[in-house]
Amino acid sequence: MGTGSGFGKVIIFNEHFVVFGIPAIASAIDSRTEALVERIDAPSQLVPSGNEGSLGDGWVLEDNRPANPGYKVEKYEHQKESINLVLDAAGFDASENNIRITLGGSLKAVGGVGASAAVCVSIARALNDEFSLGFDDDRINKIAFEGEKAYAGTPSGIDNTASTYGGLLWFEKNLQGGDNKIELLKVREPIRIVMGNTGLTTNTKAAVEGVRQRREANPEQYKGIFQVAEDIVSKARLALSAHDLTMMGQLMDTNHKILQEIEVSHPKLDELVRISKDNGALGAKMTGGGLGGYMIALCSDEASQQRVANAIESAGCEALRTTIGV
Ligand code: MEV
Repeated sequence: MGTGSGFGKVIIFNEHFVVFGIPAIASAIDSRTEALVERIDAPSQLVPSGNEGSLGDGWVLEDNRPANPGYKVEKYEHQKESINLVLDAAGFDASENNIRITLGGSLKAVGGVGASAAVCVSIARALNDEFSLGFDDDRINKIAFEGEKAYAGTPSGIDNTASTYGGLLWFEKNLQGGDNKIELLKVREPIRIVMGNTGLTTNTKAAVEGVRQRREANPEQYKGIFQVAEDIVSKARLALSAHDLTMMGQLMDTNHKILQEIEVSHPKLDELVRISKDNGALGAKMTGGGLGGYMIALCSDEASQQRVANAIESAGCEALRTTIGV
């Protein structure tokens, strides 16, 4: 039996803009998806169990991850296509070697935490482990990027990169198709955040495509917004290295505003952002594909983190207390 895992992630600055070559900052979080890959002999063993499973050519999936209600059903087709893309990119023919894939781990399957990328990374690693394929991290990352295409259409690669390598990352997509720019950022001490879950399942592919269409239809307006995104992320890099959390919070607020302008936020995300700010967060914004999923709030210390998380919970939403930059 082979095992592998992939980190969950949060995008701290510039989701969506990153697809078009603007730099972004993301961090792995301390929740992961774990995959098991087992060889199975008889095709009769290829039986998926209800909505939690799926069946491909020579593989079967049992998905035991915790998830938002409806997430697995909504993502069923994307997930099936993604696993086929991962197996293809790994050069693995499951019809020759039948396998059972089992997913678990602490990372909740929800939009905004890199759940799909963590699945791709964990399966690529478990396959590598079971069949001794000799893949290094760079190859795992490339395989996971192929799998991400099923969920995000034209992904930037930031999610699979954070999920593969972990840490706090500066990421810049190479629009010419060569290697992306990836730098590990150092911080003086871990930074406390709260992640608020709207409970709404999202469609990243549709969100990314929507931005592309609106940008094409409104080139002048989007040029200005994209310029702001570029300014924010370079200032954020300086703020992070100086551990200037107040500045980081302000930049996150501006980032949320321009994400609203490109129409990828959601009233529920805006509400959790407002609640976080009212309860002392230094800054707050949606994170990931948007239109639902998660938001993040930056907190100065443990007491502030507790207050923000409690307020999100009082509004009926789940709150994850975690750190970035570990
Ligand atoms: C999704 O987590 C992040 C997006 O920017 C898409 C991508 O970068 O692939 C929305």
